[in-house]
Amino acid sequence: MADGKGKEVLERILDNLASYANFHFAAEKTEMVKHKYPDYEAHRGKHQAMLGKVGSLIEDYKLGKVTLTHEVSDFLSDWLNKHIVGTDQQYSSFMNGVGVN
Ligand SMILES: [Fe+2]
Ligand SMILES: [Fe+2]
Repeated sequence: MADGKGKEVLERILDNLASYANFHFAAEKTEMVKHKYPDYEAHRGKHQAMLGKVGSLIEDYKLGKVTLTHEVSDFLSDWLNKHIVGTDQQYSSFMNGVGVN
């Protein structure tokens, strides 16, 4: 931050977050489709909504339309935590039920 590299670094972090999310969601999708997870469409919808939000957030940030506030970083970590401990948990229970660990 002090030497003015803050924006550059944050952009890289956000880009990495987006590509990690893409990778993670794609991996989940493969497993859900393969094992015919019944709630797949709804789960996929949540992933798509997240990618959309993160995508526009990154764009706005790069264009200087928004500053990265606690609100934004709280939103991101909240979503990830809720998704992983909530939504993904339902799908993991299903996977365990069909013998995938
Ligand atoms: Fe996940
Ligand atoms: Fe997920």
